[in-house]
Amino acid sequence: MKVGIVGAGMVGSAAGSALALRGVASQIVLVDRNAALAVAQAEDIAHGVPFGPAVSVCAGDYADLEGAGVVIIAAGVAQKPGESRLSLLSRNVAVFADVVAAVRTAAPDAILLVASNPVDVMTEVATRLSGLPSARVIGSGTILDTARFRSLLGRHLGIAPQSIHAYVMGEHGDSEVLAWSAARAGSVSIAAFAAQVGAAITDDVRAQIDAGVRRAAYRIIEGKGATWYGIGAGLARIVQVIAGDQRAVLSVSIRTPEVAGVRDVTLSVPRIVGARGVEADLFPDLSPPEMQALARSATILQETTAALAL
Ligand code: LAC
Repeated sequence: MKVGIVGAGMVGSAAGSALALRGVASQIVLVDRNAALAVAQAEDIAHGVPFGPAVSVCAGDYADLEGAGVVIIAAGVAQKPGESRLSLLSRNVAVFADVVAAVRTAAPDAILLVASNPVDVMTEVATRLSGLPSARVIGSGTILDTARFRSLLGRHLGIAPQSIHAYVMGEHGDSEVLAWSAARAGSVSIAAFAAQVGAAITDDVRAQIDAGVRRAAYRIIEGKGATWYGIGAGLARIVQVIAGDQRAVLSVSIRTPEVAGVRDVTLSVPRIVGARGVEADLFPDLSPPEMQALARSATILQETTAALAL
């Protein structure tokens, strides 16, 4: 599959590197308004290709996106230390007005994969601007938050995160919801598994894991200025599932008719993803407090997108 990446900054180039090293794409084209940056990132990624599967990596213009099956949109400004994702909105809406139109012209059949923050609102913006069905305009959403949740649970329980089924839903941001009540390890509830292995999930452990997920980006940005490896790997996983028509369950963001009583809202719930984009939504049974938190998250996003002049 040919994959386009618009925005050759840290996130876009990390996604390109992850795609190349995992052998997910046969061709990767990086586009950026800073052509020199796109060329340098493409050359740097290409130098790693001999260590992994064969893939063609190059920089190009929008016209070079022709035939792409997926185009990742990672263009726009990123959070500064202490800055919330939602505060980036006005600057990134202006960027998307040109980017989405150019992508649609060059690659009309491509699924759009949005990474720019605030990713849920930017996914709604891309859906409105592109005119594509919502199932083909996918935001990375809480795929990274879910990975963080599973990593921290696995570390506490002493098992691989791949053996944990737990999801973060709602906004990829401060109001996100960790679905503790639906979390499973192996085939048992997290609480039962924790009791079996003597690693009780006390209120303190729960609070530490919550902060570890919810505040991860803020901590990393304080230390290195931005995040990119985690989201790059998450984007590569979404492309892999699309390219292989894997019908995997991923917590990604698309415009959804109704979530927790809130209508027409773009956020993450677990969804089946395949070659045609999002194929179906799954709504886990949540505890009443979790459902209330999801309704609050959905309301925050719906109010934010309702204010968009698009
Ligand atoms: C993060 C960015 C991708 O959570 O929002 O690392």
